Amino acid sequence: MTDNHSYDVIVIGAGGAGLRAAIEAHDQGARVAVVCKSLLGKAHTVMAEGGIAAAMGNVYPEDNWRVHFRDTMRGGKMLNNYRMAELHAKEAPDRVRELEEWGALFDRTKDGLISQRDFGGHRFARLAHVGDRTGLELIRTLQQRTVALGIDVFMEHTVTKLLTGGEGAITGAFGYRRIDGQFVSWSAPSVILATGGVGKAYIVTSNSWEYSGDGHSLALGAGASLVNMEFLQFHPTGMVWPISVKGILITESVRGEGGVLRNSEGKRFMFDYIPPYFAAETADNEAEADRWYDDHANNRRPPELLPRDEVARAINTEVKAGRGSPHGGVFLDIASRRSAEDIKRRLPSMYHQFKELAEVDITQEPMEVGPTCHYVMGGVEVDPETQEASVSGLFAAGEVSGGMHGSNRLGGNSLSDLLVFGKRAGTAAAAHAKRTSAVAPTEADLTTAEAEALVPFTNEAGDNPYTVWASLQQAMQELVGIIRNGAEVQQALATIEDLKTRKLKVGGDRVFNPGWNLAIDLRNLLRVSECIAKAAIAREESRGGHTRDEFPTPSPEWGKLNLICTLNDTGSIDLARKDLPVMPPELAEIFEESTT
Ligand code: FUM
Repeated sequence: MTDNHSYDVIVIGAGGAGLRAAIEAHDQGARVAVVCKSLLGKAHTVMAEGGIAAAMGNVYPEDNWRVHFRDTMRGGKMLNNYRMAELHAKEAPDRVRELEEWGALFDRTKDGLISQRDFGGHRFARLAHVGDRTGLELIRTLQQRTVALGIDVFMEHTVTKLLTGGEGAITGAFGYRRIDGQFVSWSAPSVILATGGVGKAYIVTSNSWEYSGDGHSLALGAGASLVNMEFLQFHPTGMVWPISVKGILITESVRGEGGVLRNSEGKRFMFDYIPPYFAAETADNEAEADRWYDDHANNRRPPELLPRDEVARAINTEVKAGRGSPHGGVFLDIASRRSAEDIKRRLPSMYHQFKELAEVDITQEPMEVGPTCHYVMGGVEVDPETQEASVSGLFAAGEVSGGMHGSNRLGGNSLSDLLVFGKRAGTAAAAHAKRTSAVAPTEADLTTAEAEALVPFTNEAGDNPYTVWASLQQAMQELVGIIRNGAEVQQALATIEDLKTRKLKVGGDRVFNPGWNLAIDLRNLLRVSECIAKAAIAREESRGGHTRDEFPTPSPEWGKLNLICTLNDTGSIDLARKDLPVMPPELAEIFEESTT
């Protein structure tokens, strides 16, 4: 038996993108429900600690949308969907101001404006922030508004399937309540995916248990396509010790506030890793790098503030060369660079995180840090204006959507992305629902969806889902990590193909059954891992978050191509090449302009 509900718009996921989309769809007059796997307010959004990137010009009046657009495209190595990057750069400042009107309490400049800090790849200090808890403040604000508007929230519900009608258009979603296994369906002409990323395919990740590629997989299952899944972001600074907290994020704002990276020889090694395309604007000596914090106009940026892909690769190289810290990372030092008072005021969460979890006082000693799987740039292929996927009535916003960040995302651009495109998705989904009649699910639809979800119980025998998950994570971590080569990724793909054939068996009943929950998530993890591996094999170049050691440089041909994943009738992923949209001259000319 299934509990049936009816709405105009269903939002799957309650992070920043989901909540911003739900608020907008509600404001456009739609009946909206948010469905989330976890508790309201618990989302990876909070891991974007350092700030929201928006060219407000509060600290550097020279900043504007054109510079932000340019930085974003260059950070993404020009593979970004240019229209998304343009909309993002133009609309981000309004989204931040709106958040403030809704109650977000940002840190201030001396003049009382919203304070903005430095981050990697951004020409000017442009991250609006709340200490190092910006994502948390964003979620708190959106959550409060969602509740105040009376939007229905189905917490601790897993969606297992999107429902589609005769024409292949979306008609709703099907899932179950995690506390007791009760099946639930939501009929709605518009569904917005806002499920975040895929980090749980890896062992070392900043993502928590919810991030198993659900939205990516649901979209594939409904007939939509994913773009550029080979591009994963390994944030340069995760905790490496103690082992129980390995992967937890250390915000980039530590470097934005002046923190420097050193190897076991005490060398500030990032000066050795300045790529030619950032050489003109990156300081190549300590004195100039340090002057940057006081005077951006007349000095070049420190190399610790290169985009994340560059910094993560450099750390990886230092560790592999035997110049790592005792627990396999490098040292991040803020203690010798800022006063204890400043550190506690500007980076309160980092201070507490290290004190509580590692017994390290970051005002006195350096942190040990190493790369951690943080974000997937690839995602559901969407229309840049509406965020609609290739399936009518299906929308995607935030990390689950693809295109905006190209091959590498700049820090701080995720929070502005989810506000800009969450709002756009909410508007378009509400409009779509207005012109589309609701279709209730048939008994046959529900019976099929129930039977599919129950397979791990009805299988006579099979593997424990935890064993299968561990094998998948090991293959992805070791063979499809920061540096890849074709033979190793082929090996990972063979493991994925084998794991896909395994039958899973879980015991007990449907009441809060972690084995069953994981068995459901595993199908999604395997699907997205297959996409990542196949695309990583196909893309024979190095660009952003995808480095192939046999093809160490970007290739001009691949620079014009997206890789598109779809699901075929046998349940495998098909890959196709698709031309990147060509930027119009009025945007192309921005790359000719002076950096200031
Ligand atoms: O380092 C950070 O604070 C993370 C920010 C982000 O991923 O945007």
